[in-house]
Amino acid sequence: MTLTAKPPSLGSDMRVQTIVAACLWLLPALFCTVARGCPSQCQCEESSRVQCQGDHITVFPAHIPANTSYLYISNTGISSLNSSDFENFSHSLRSLNISNSGIEEISHGTFEGTRLLEVLSLIGNNLQSLPVHLFSNLGRLEKLLLNRNKIRVLPGGMFQGLKQLRSLDLSQNALTEIPDGIFDDLPNLESLFLQGNQIKHLPQQVFSQLEKLQALYLSENRLSTLPEGIFSLHTKNHTVGLPMLEHISLQHNHLRSLPEELLRGLPALRHLDLHNNSLPNLPRGLLASLESAQEVVLTQNPWRCDEDIVPLLNWLRDHQSKVPNASKVVCLGTPRLSNISITNLSGHDLDPAPGKGYTVPPDTLCIAVILVATLVISVFIISMWWRRIKKTPFPPGRTIEHAFLME
Ligand SMILES: *[C@@H]1O[C@H](CO)[C@@H](O)[C@H](O)[C@H]1NC(C)=O
Ligand SMILES: *[C@@H]1O[C@H](CO)[C@@H](O)[C@H](O)[C@H]1NC(C)=O
Ligand SMILES: *[C@@H]1O[C@H](CO)[C@@H](O)[C@H](O)[C@H]1NC(C)=O
Ligand SMILES: *[C@@H]1O[C@H](CO)[C@@H](O)[C@H](O)[C@H]1NC(C)=O
Ligand SMILES: *[C@@H]1O[C@H](CO)[C@@H](O)[C@H](O)[C@H]1NC(C)=O
Ligand SMILES: *[C@@H]1O[C@H](CO)[C@@H](O)[C@H](O)[C@H]1NC(C)=O
Ligand SMILES: *[C@@H]1O[C@H](CO)[C@@H](O)[C@H](O)[C@H]1NC(C)=O
Ligand SMILES: *[C@@H]1O[C@H](CO)[C@@H](O)[C@H](O)[C@H]1NC(C)=O
Ligand SMILES: *[C@@H]1O[C@H](CO)[C@@H](O)[C@H](O)[C@H]1NC(C)=O
Repeated sequence: MTLTAKPPSLGSDMRVQTIVAACLWLLPALFCTVARGCPSQCQCEESSRVQCQGDHITVFPAHIPANTSYLYISNTGISSLNSSDFENFSHSLRSLNISNSGIEEISHGTFEGTRLLEVLSLIGNNLQSLPVHLFSNLGRLEKLLLNRNKIRVLPGGMFQGLKQLRSLDLSQNALTEIPDGIFDDLPNLESLFLQGNQIKHLPQQVFSQLEKLQALYLSENRLSTLPEGIFSLHTKNHTVGLPMLEHISLQHNHLRSLPEELLRGLPALRHLDLHNNSLPNLPRGLLASLESAQEVVLTQNPWRCDEDIVPLLNWLRDHQSKVPNASKVVCLGTPRLSNISITNLSGHDLDPAPGKGYTVPPDTLCIAVILVATLVISVFIISMWWRRIKKTPFPPGRTIEHAFLME
């Protein structure tokens, strides 16, 4: 009876033991699954892509799978990054995209281990500065996007080691200066985006090593001129112009003049945008360098329609198909001809160029000659008459005034 009574209790003990044993056995497995699995704030795909989004994420998610090659983090409240964040998957990461996340600080050495990285995008954060050698281990990086931050200065040497970099985006930041030599270690750079900053000056040799550069975006800055030779190439085996440069955008700057030889030796140049600057004219030599160009945007500049505009006028007439909205390239620097299309001007509309002296019309010259001659003759006659008066003898001590008074 006791035996028959006991088995249920024995059975329930065993069940409890089994459950406990099972639990003890399962627990590490469960842990491992969590560790190997996906952080709760993120979504992980089979293809080793991980995405983490939302402002509930305020620290870098831990336990990102070790084989993650593409990590996309956006619209979070993460404010800083350091090397620990990537410690478990740095060897597999190829593409890192952390955008619109308010990141203010990236510690020195953060990308020390992520040597396979090909794309690094930090668009739309709050970065004001970056440690100097932050990217120096990223020898495979092809694309570096730092646009829409608040970067004010770039330390020299910032982009050293990025031998494979093809695209560098620094647009929409707060840069006022670009240090000389900063792009010298980027032999494969094809596209450089610097638009939407506050750049006033560019060093003369800043692009001089960019043998592969195709597109240069400098619009929406504060450039008032460009140094002569800024598009020259100075590598060991080559000095003429950047051989691949196709696209230069300079619209929405404060350009007041451009050097004659600026675009000399750019065999690939196709597109030049000078829209909305302060240019009164373009030098003859620069126009001559635009032979291979397909699109030259010249609208919204205060073109000064005096005799010096003739080379531009002729160039515009010969190349109207290259100039979008050519009829809107109008005289704005000459009030009398305001809003007249340059191509509509004829020679006698034009004022003489300033600084060339006033060319005197022939009849004015005749009148001047007659006036001067009359003056010379009058002076001569008066002086003759004067001498005659002087010769008439006066008593000693008397002056000519006395002589008149006596009369
Ligand atoms: C990465 O690991 C996860 C689980 O840890 C697996 O599901 C996925 O297939 C792995 N991806 C690759 C490309 O190995
Ligand atoms: C990296 O992995 C170790 C061991 O699994 C773990 O203890 C650590 O928390 C992980 N670090 C991060 C940042 O996920
Ligand atoms: C990285 O930051 C976390 C907290 O944000 C901190 O716990 C950790 O010690 C830091 N690691 C390093 C290497 O600075
Ligand atoms: C990174 O994410 C942004 C969206 O926040 C997207 O527009 C961009 O194309 C992504 N960049 C890369 C290189 O994946
Ligand atoms: C200069 O030399 C390097 C290799 O020495 C070569 O890759 C490059 O194309 C040359 N550049 C020019 C413009 O000839
Ligand atoms: C022209 O450029 C200036 C900056 O140089 C900018 O403020 C202005 O809005 C631009 N005008 C137009 C019509 O785009
Ligand atoms: C030409 O003018 C139109 C209207 O003003 C404008 O929308 C268009 O962008 C201009 N084209 C270029 C290439 O500037
Ligand atoms: C030039 O034309 C534009 C519109 O076509 C007009 O807004 C502007 O007032 C004109 N300027 C002058 C000085 O006539
Ligand atoms: C240029 O001349 C054409 C034809 O004479 C005329 O229709 C056009 O309004 C003129 N344009 C300007 C901007 O002066």
